[in-house]
Amino acid sequence: MTTPLRLGIAGLGTVGIGVVKIIQAHGDLLAARSGRPVVITAVSARSRDKDRGADLSAYAWEDDPVALATRDDVDVFVELMGGAEGPAKDATQAAIAAGKDVVTANKAMLALHGQDLAEQAEAADVVIRFEAAVAGGIPVVKALTEGLAGNAIRRVMGVMNGTCNYILTRMESSGLPYADVFEEANQLGYLEADPTLDVGGIDAGHKLSLLASVAFGTRVAFDAVELEGIERISIQDIRHAADMGFKIKLLGVAQMTGRGLEQRMSPCLVPDTSPLGQLDGGTNMVVLEGDSVGQIVLRGAGAGEGPTASAVMSDVIDIARGIRVPTFGVPAAQLEPAPPAKAAVPAPYYLRMRLFDKPGALAKVAAALGEAGISIDRMRQYGHSNETAPVLIVTHKTTRDALDHAMAGFAATGVVEGEPVAIRIEEV
Ligand code: HSE
Repeated sequence: MTTPLRLGIAGLGTVGIGVVKIIQAHGDLLAARSGRPVVITAVSARSRDKDRGADLSAYAWEDDPVALATRDDVDVFVELMGGAEGPAKDATQAAIAAGKDVVTANKAMLALHGQDLAEQAEAADVVIRFEAAVAGGIPVVKALTEGLAGNAIRRVMGVMNGTCNYILTRMESSGLPYADVFEEANQLGYLEADPTLDVGGIDAGHKLSLLASVAFGTRVAFDAVELEGIERISIQDIRHAADMGFKIKLLGVAQMTGRGLEQRMSPCLVPDTSPLGQLDGGTNMVVLEGDSVGQIVLRGAGAGEGPTASAVMSDVIDIARGIRVPTFGVPAAQLEPAPPAKAAVPAPYYLRMRLFDKPGALAKVAAALGEAGISIDRMRQYGHSNETAPVLIVTHKTTRDALDHAMAGFAATGVVEGEPVAIRIEEV
């Protein structure tokens, strides 16, 4: 009789119950693929009495996740509680110290403490796996650490927050302003308890920082991610971008540049015909570029019971099979502390501003761009009913520094009303 792999699951929310259901439904399949039975021995959650729609009576119950993590009959601690600090981190560290492998969906904990936890795990000769932490059901960590392991990774991009993608695409399809669609997403239960995690780009930024570490062999550096959320995206920008052939996405981009590691999570324009441009609703997409393989596009559900539990199970099965990969793909001590490079790679930009309708106004704006060394690719002026007219400009490639210089120059022209909007156009 082969020895079963025994799981202790902490957190019985959507994902935890999804894992329970997979193990209960697919026992034979999991045993065949793993070479040994995969069983749950104990579970833990905040409330024992809640009806969760799954039969948990066969499992031992622990109120305290630390007690669960250190039980003698648990081989793998499955952490599905969430939260960067507190019980999730305490129990993860206790599991490591007790010699248990860890599978987690906790992007915040790893984005903030990944290096320390990886070092602790390696010192204790256990593994931490986190496929479910990035882009839900999309097997992107596995794609980078295994499928593309022979490539130098050039760039990693992705739409990794389904809620933001839902809001942006719904704004476009309905013509409703941000505030209305935000409320709609709230009613539908799409938003995190702290909505800033979604719409402020923080949740997606956590995910990007984890992918960057795996892709480039660097220490997780969430604090070096340039973060901008979608709160300031207006329906006008969505419409004007569409007129110019673009969609607006909350896009994460990580790439190694001559100046260091660039990590950005911010609204970007992408061509509406590109796979990213055609990604509608709450779906995620990750684009990986390797020197040998070229571009790989992975698309799928970034959240939800089944997809996220599917990702948890892929890590569990790897552990059952005896596959032991360092947390971020290479041993933690070898991860490089990459210097952060702020938007180092030049790109075209979309600019929207309102100009006072008087002779020479456009010339003054063009001159400010010219003085900053920025060339105009396309321009469009819309009709107007009062004394200012909306003007859109798409620039040729430029740096963010040059653009900021030009925008400071706009203020001095006296012909631009209010703050211009500038959004990077990502070449995908
Ligand atoms: N709130 C996230 C999303 C899922 O909307 O994609 C959890 O990371």
